[in-house]
Amino acid sequence: MNPVELILKKRNGYVLTTDEINFFINSYLSGAITEYQMSAFLMAVYFQGMLPDEITALTDCYIRSGKRIEFPEGVITADKHSTGGVGDKISLMLAPIAAACGLTVPMISGRGLGHTGGTLDKLEAIPGFQTSYSMEQFRDLTLKHGVCLVGQSEQLVPADKRIYALRDVTATVESPGLITASIMSKKIAEGARHLVIDLKVGSGAFMPTLSRAKELAELLIRTGHAFGQQVTVVFTNMNAPLGTHIGNALEVIEAIEYLKGNFLPDTQEITEALTAEMLLSAGLAKDYEEAVQHVRKVIADGSALQKFREIIIAQGGDAAVCDDYSRFAPAKYELPILANQDGYLQSIDSRSIGYALIGVKAGRMQVSDSLDYGSGAILYPKVGDQFTSGQPIGTLFCNDQAAGEKAIERILSAFHLSPDPVPKEELILGRMTLADLQ
Ligand code: URA
Repeated sequence: MNPVELILKKRNGYVLTTDEINFFINSYLSGAITEYQMSAFLMAVYFQGMLPDEITALTDCYIRSGKRIEFPEGVITADKHSTGGVGDKISLMLAPIAAACGLTVPMISGRGLGHTGGTLDKLEAIPGFQTSYSMEQFRDLTLKHGVCLVGQSEQLVPADKRIYALRDVTATVESPGLITASIMSKKIAEGARHLVIDLKVGSGAFMPTLSRAKELAELLIRTGHAFGQQVTVVFTNMNAPLGTHIGNALEVIEAIEYLKGNFLPDTQEITEALTAEMLLSAGLAKDYEEAVQHVRKVIADGSALQKFREIIIAQGGDAAVCDDYSRFAPAKYELPILANQDGYLQSIDSRSIGYALIGVKAGRMQVSDSLDYGSGAILYPKVGDQFTSGQPIGTLFCNDQAAGEKAIERILSAFHLSPDPVPKEELILGRMTLADLQ
């Protein structure tokens, strides 16, 4: 086969065969196809799209580039994937809650890049916490503790690791076919039989509208089904940061508070919905109501928090952080954030808040950037809240005062006010499973 002919074929809108996709990806991995040919191929896919059979072939090829974990029959494995949001610390609560409810949770997460944070960075804010394990160690830890939270190893879908890095610098990330193969290959290779996907919709998300998000959801569900995985997609609003804490150590603290029963309405709604969907999919609850009761019970009886302590210890971390937040890396400065206008909060530009916090090293612009785990912000406002100029609306944590003051200016400009009262927004916009597609 000739790589140029395959690029041409896709560029002109034709469907590639499984053999052609395997040839292209495998030749790229072996070095026979160059970076610039792969870049051209990705751009052709970006514009022409892929049919479900092509996406399944690409996903399969990705999975076979590395190892696939198999859990023993009878072990009910389930995971959650989020397409990324500012202040999205749901995995930190959901993983121990789901494990305390009896699920086995093999969770492979990513690092933060750009405006969104990453679960791995948050976990590494816990002193000593290790996220780098071989696939065998990951499997053993997951089986022993019911949950393990790690990063993508060299053995897990290496094709995606290389191609995702190339997509990132060739403006080819937002392609439904490429997103589907990338997400699903990792979630299938890690061995999860049930997967709940939190698909963010809104200005800062991959999919800006619900109808575009539904198209992506259908591809995710059908691809999972092709590999025997049951996928539930929950569409959630990404027009505001989740909870109040944004920043690595701060988000872990908010998650611990949650596990102690101190809920905020938005994080509670999303955590309960996603965990309940995992339990329902896995058959551990007869209906949604029972699933939510199960989730609430393991918080009320302390077993979810106990599971979180167990994970921290199993992965080399200091579980005493659960009782003493001063064990997290400190931030030298705590600067008050004061409203600078009167009105009602109409919208929050989460992306801008994410970028503002990169300025105090709570996030990174480039993979090689270092982080200040103690930096970040606590922000109380939610859409619909009334603002009075001068009113305290949060706190900025940083180690560089000038950078902190700049971040505050940028955060304040991310709050858009209206002179008239604004209704509260729906957080959960819908759900989809295979049954909705038949
Ligand atoms: N997350 C992934 O892992 N891959 C994508 O392509 C997009 C989001």
